[in-house]
Amino acid sequence: MARIALLIQKTPTLEDGNYLRFARELNKSGHSTDILFIDSLRLIAGRVTADAFSWRSHLKSGSPLPTSAECKIDHDVIWILGLGDRENFLDKYQLLYALPEKCKIVNSLDAIMHLKSKYYLASQGDQFPSPETYASTSAEELISIVEANQGKWIVKPPAGSLGRDVYLTHAGDSQLKVIIKRLCGADNSRYTMLQRYLPEIEQGEKRVLLAGGRVIGQYLRRSAGDHRTNITAGAKTEPCDLSVPERHYCTKLAQQILSKGAWFAGVDLVYPWLIEVNVINPGGITTIHELTGCDLSEKVVEAVMTSLDHA
Ligand SMILES: Nc1ncnc2c1ncn2[C@@H]1O[C@H](COP(=O)(O)OP(=O)(O)O)[C@@H](O)[C@H]1O
Ligand SMILES: [Mg+2]
Repeated sequence: MARIALLIQKTPTLEDGNYLRFARELNKSGHSTDILFIDSLRLIAGRVTADAFSWRSHLKSGSPLPTSAECKIDHDVIWILGLGDRENFLDKYQLLYALPEKCKIVNSLDAIMHLKSKYYLASQGDQFPSPETYASTSAEELISIVEANQGKWIVKPPAGSLGRDVYLTHAGDSQLKVIIKRLCGADNSRYTMLQRYLPEIEQGEKRVLLAGGRVIGQYLRRSAGDHRTNITAGAKTEPCDLSVPERHYCTKLAQQILSKGAWFAGVDLVYPWLIEVNVINPGGITTIHELTGCDLSEKVVEAVMTSLDHA
């Protein structure tokens, strides 16, 4: 049986979500599981440590956090389920890179850095069909691209999340310059991404959970109120199936991202287009549970652990 560390963002009480459900399943399968707070990662006398508590079966959503203590990180599997504070992401990333080699990191540091990246996806059209995409720190350059091209455009931060600062615009839009200049910053120091708007999104976007190279489950999000299909932007969720081509595509995708070390991911699909690959604590399990009554956490844990055995 393995020693597993789940790295999470600290919350005042235990919250229902991936880490709680996965800890429960791992525990059931006989693995010993520690919960570590990612924002407490540090180096003590040359060893990477973090504050942690051991998972116990009586713990549930709403329980107060058990007392934590400093824990040397040398587990068999380190499963990252939260990035914590974004400001010091690079330091934490480098601390994780400094872990002993025997530790298997889920998802791999390569996957976390690059599959999450909208630059990488948009530049690998053969593997990840993406809408026409540009990124630059120059507001003038991006504005001129929109002005020279008909149709609708999405403007967004390349490393955003939750639909924050995702705008819909077009040539002649009175807000175009304001939006792009605001995202690039007064001194043109922030990267901003410009992407052709996919009208297919009006039929909704599917969140598909992939684990250990397999398709695990999915649900549909439809925007309500504006152009974004993020739940945090008010999108409505529905159960859905995958069409035969969608399932075929997602199965291939699951294998492709697994080869980069993404054992567990949530992809956002507007078939045939891929909007995003979420490799850090992707949501979906609780939503699918609410929508269908089916808790997929056991399936995810089983798929990840089986696949890790062969890694
Ligand atoms: N090219 C696009 N065409 C149509 N809608 C888009 C496009 N890019 C993003 N969106 C909409 O904006 C939402 C948020 O964009 P996304 O790239 O996923 O950023 P975030 O990381 O903030 O979720 C998407 O879920 C989708 O609804
Ligand atoms: Mg998204």
